[in-house]
Amino acid sequence: MVPEQREALDEIIVKIRAGRMTRRTFLERAVAIGLSTTVAGSLLEACGGSSGTSGGGGQATNVVWQSENDTSGTYPAMVDTYNKTNKDNVHVTWRNGPSNTDQMLTLYDNTLRARSGNIDVMSIDVVYPAEFSSNGWTVDLSSKWPASDRANYLPGPIKSCTYNGQIAAAPLRTDLGVLYYRKDIVSTPPTTFNDLTSMAKSNASKTKYGYIWQGSQYEGLVCDFVEVLYGYGGAILDPTNSKKVVVNSPEGVQALTEMVSWVGTISPISITTFNEEQCRQAFQNGDAIFMRNWPYAYALGNASGSKVAGKFDIHSIPYGGSNTTGHSAVGGWNMAINAYSKNTDASWTFIKYMLSAPAQKVLAIKGSFTPALKSVYNDPEVQSKQPLFTKLQPILQNALPRPVSPVYPDLSNIVQTHIHQALTKSVSPADALSALQSELQTLVSK
Ligand code: GLC
Repeated sequence: MVPEQREALDEIIVKIRAGRMTRRTFLERAVAIGLSTTVAGSLLEACGGSSGTSGGGGQATNVVWQSENDTSGTYPAMVDTYNKTNKDNVHVTWRNGPSNTDQMLTLYDNTLRARSGNIDVMSIDVVYPAEFSSNGWTVDLSSKWPASDRANYLPGPIKSCTYNGQIAAAPLRTDLGVLYYRKDIVSTPPTTFNDLTSMAKSNASKTKYGYIWQGSQYEGLVCDFVEVLYGYGGAILDPTNSKKVVVNSPEGVQALTEMVSWVGTISPISITTFNEEQCRQAFQNGDAIFMRNWPYAYALGNASGSKVAGKFDIHSIPYGGSNTTGHSAVGGWNMAINAYSKNTDASWTFIKYMLSAPAQKVLAIKGSFTPALKSVYNDPEVQSKQPLFTKLQPILQNALPRPVSPVYPDLSNIVQTHIHQALTKSVSPADALSALQSELQTLVSK
């Protein structure tokens, strides 16, 4: 959305909330601004006001936590435990999020532009704190959260929550891309993309697909693309100058050519519609030798009902060209307090619980989520119950973030569009990168 659209939208939001506009006019104007009727409708609903209930007279304060998508049952179980055991006089209502982080952003965008306090605690993707903070959508946590305690958490996620000196959110968990491989089919995992391709080809008769990854046009594709790009030694923005786009480089062309070469060979043509969950389900069904995914797929892949329980392991993301190190994209989810919430203190009380050592251990053991608290990684119980934790330290050390920008959603959309066009073979990798370079350069120069 361009700034002019945002301004026009803000104007009608102010009017509807003040009762100076009818619902019908609101919907007409919102569609004229460029919103779909569904999005306009949910924005109108969000403008209807806040449902946050403040406790009083001994009644518990209800805190609504909107989390990212959780298919492992970890979050509802943790909320249940908290509600049954806490002495804080806080009750938490958990809402699961959509399986696509872009849809999650639309939901927040609607809620927050409507200045709604319907959600108190928002799980926000690691790429969004800068945007949320610069829009004034989050409560600054720096005075609530002492620096001495913050030091116990991984520095990368803390940095990702810090914008213009404010702490926009507290990191619940980090995330890092890993390569899953079937150890009953290949005895040693591939270290380079060339190895991966040749292993997938020589074992092609053993499973339906060789390699599955996130090729659909959404945020997940940005993660998969940067991993291949970084693996070839390329980057999107110049690491020393965030106003300079460097994606159209020889390394960039090599990386994108490599990804395009997988489509219809070691990966199905339909890979251009796969997200994390489709990959996980196919892998669990025994349909692939290799899968790129996040650690959450480890616990689910070993759970009862999975056809590959005990038959797979994880490894770092491969590399290519003249490079010698693979790099995971850093993902993760942070808990922010909605600036329009009426339950700020109760929200922080709940967030503190989720950051506590026992809660962070539950994340690791039940969900195989990678928590933000450093001490969990070396915890013997965690390592024995979820052995992937014995392999994560070096992968974490080489993980690299996606570009950091207050206009990240626009940046991401531009990347998604051009990379997806190359994957669907509508344009060549070289043309896609050249168009990507110039559009991104215009964006970051503004
Ligand atoms: C995971 C990551 C998140 C990323 C998303 C992409 O949820 O934690 O950072 O943006 O996947 O699909």
